[in-house]
This record gives sequence, C-alpha cells and structure tokens, in this order.
Amino acid sequence: MAGEKSVHASVLAQEVLRWLDPQAGDVLVDGTLGGGGHTRLLAEAVGPTGLVIAFDRDPRALAAAERNLAGMPVKLAHANFSEMAAVLDSEATGPVKGILLDLGLSSDQLADASRGFSFLAEGPLDLRFDPTEGAPASQLVNRLGEKELADVIYRYGEERFSRRIARRIVERRKTKPIETAGELAELVRGCVPRSRGHAIDPATRTFQALRIAVNRELESLETTLRVIPDILAPGGRAAVISFHSLEDRLVKTAFRDDPRYDALTRKPIRPSEEEIRRNPRSRSARLRVAARR
Ligand SMILES: C[S@@+](CC[C@H](N)C(=O)[O-])C[C@H]1O[C@@H](n2cnc3c(N)ncnc32)[C@H](O)[C@@H]1O
Repeated sequence: MAGEKSVHASVLAQEVLRWLDPQAGDVLVDGTLGGGGHTRLLAEAVGPTGLVIAFDRDPRALAAAERNLAGMPVKLAHANFSEMAAVLDSEATGPVKGILLDLGLSSDQLADASRGFSFLAEGPLDLRFDPTEGAPASQLVNRLGEKELADVIYRYGEERFSRRIARRIVERRKTKPIETAGELAELVRGCVPRSRGHAIDPATRTFQALRIAVNRELESLETTLRVIPDILAPGGRAAVISFHSLEDRLVKTAFRDDPRYDALTRKPIRPSEEEIRRNPRSRSARLRVAARR
C-alpha cells in the first residue's frame, strides 16, 4: 500500500486523545504506526514544536506514512516497539509525555493478499508484520511437531479444537505442504464446528495463534511494558489498546503490579456502540491507561 491512503480506521481515537492529553511541544511515542491515524492526531496536537516518534515493524506501513504524514512533526522508526529505549536514546528527544500502543494488525495488512493475514484470500501463509525478518507462518505449520502445533493453537488462539487441527495439518502435509492462507483456512473449517448464530469464521482463532507466535507478539508486549516506565517522564501516560484477553491480561497485570505505574483505568475502556457500528473491527478493543509515578 506504499503511497496509498490507508483503509485502517483508528480505534478509540477520541478516548486516546482524552487520556494522553497531548499538549503543544510535547514529545510522544506511537509504538504502532499502522495506517498513521493515531500518529496524525497526536502530531496535530503537539504541533510544530513537538514530536511524535512512530514505530512499526512493517516496511510498507512506514513507506505509506512517509508520504501521508509528510511535513508533520513525526519521526518514523522501522523497529519493534520493544526496542524503543535504544531508538529514543539515539534520537535524544527529551522527556516523553505519552506512549501509545495499538496492538495487533491493521486493516491495511489484512487487505493485502500477499501477506496471508486474511483467510478469505489465496495469499501465501506468511503472517509476519515484518516480512524481512524471521520465517513465515507456513514454515511453522509445515515443520512443528503435532504436539507443539496443538500447543501454539491452544495457547495463543484459545482454540478448543487445537489437537484435532494439529492432527489434520500433520496428516495433510505428508502429501503436500500447506502454502496458502486459503488452504489452511479450509482445513481448519473442516475441524471446527461453526457455532450457531456466530458470524466469526472458525479459522479466526488458529490464524490469530499463528500470527502471535510468528511475530512473538506477547514477548514484545511484555518486554515493552517493563521498558515504558524507564522512558516516560514522571506523570507521563501510557495507553494500550489490546484486542484479545491474552494481551489485555499482560497490560492489566503490569499496570497493577509494577510499582512504577499508577493505573488510571480500573476497568478497560470499550468502544461505544456507535463506533462498533461504524467500525466492527473495534468491537474487541480494550484501552487501559497508566501514569508514570
Ligand atoms: C492496529 S495497527 C495500528 C493502527 C494505527 N494506530 C492507526 O491509527 O492507523 C498495529 C500496527 O502495529 C504494528 N506492530 C505490531 N506489533 C508491533 C511491534 N512489536 N513493534 C512495532 N510495530 C508493531 C503492525 O505492523 C501494525 O501496522
């Protein structure tokens, strides 16, 4: 999507602005640039005397933002947000007043058939945020032992039928490796009964699990939650939007148990019905905010 407009609708945008409360001249970090929607709002608020340093692992997201956010007080970094301390050090930016993480994948990545995120498309089963690093999901699916595969699908997808899916994958790959997102989705659909009244595709949980494993998403989040208090100025705020319970649990626990945080949201903030109607992808979003003591 380099150079094109993003199709991603930023989730909980007004709530993020309200809680981070950016002021003219502030330095902020957006750990998850994506389509650049939140970054743009933050950059508008801090103005020309401020700065937003925006990270993404995805070179295509950065290439698009370079054009779409040209002229704004934004610096882009092609890095995992877990490396933000080192990047900020080298940029010598001064005290950071707010940090945003809007986890998971963007609608731009989902819409790009070459990435394998959408199981409705016949793209290669890749699922990496950064296709220049590590190995694609097809390698995991075709090489992991049956038990490890079942464990990944169970742990990261909370999928009850993980063992059945793993068994079927191992059977299938004896004759032919699984190469496309469509092939895997079809196989999973054959293993998981579609629950009545549920619009969600039965392949969703397995794809989520593989994506989390391939990108080591929970490890990145855990590391980053430990690093954020080293970066934030006293009174500065961290806002994290998560999309499933595994992420939300990490955020909730860190904000509650790390004495350097003062949790400001006892319960997570959820999108309004109006936002969910406008942007159904927002339905599972949960925002938690903490201040640096
Ligand atoms: C939900 S989207 C962000 C959307 C963005 N807030 C907006 O308004 O358009 C998440 C983005 O974070 C990136 N991402 C996910 N994990 C990351 C990590 N550990 N480090 C850096 N970027 C990451 C993904 O590549 C994706 O582009």
